[in-house]
Amino acid sequence: TFEVELARSGTRLTVPEDMSILEAVENAGVSVMTSCEEGICGTCETKVLSGEIDHRDSVLDDAERAAGDTMMICVSRARGNRLVLDL
Ligand code: FES
Repeated sequence: TFEVELARSGTRLTVPEDMSILEAVENAGVSVMTSCEEGICGTCETKVLSGEIDHRDSVLDDAERAAGDTMMICVSRARGNRLVLDL
């Protein structure tokens, strides 16, 4: 379980283990473009303003993962206890 803050609205969400960030964001009424929802298409790529990312997608390369400023919110998660997204 970790917290996600949506920077544009200041909304704070709790993401439990059995829920994706994408689901939590959509439950909060924020719509995001998605397609595969399996971490392979890149459609849901979201800018990350702060926080450590646990990358679980097959889209980003090593350099992009290391940069830590973007993520696929359908599958990837937080490594720490908080992420701030540009949503
Ligand atoms: Fe395809 Fe997230 S919807 S990578």
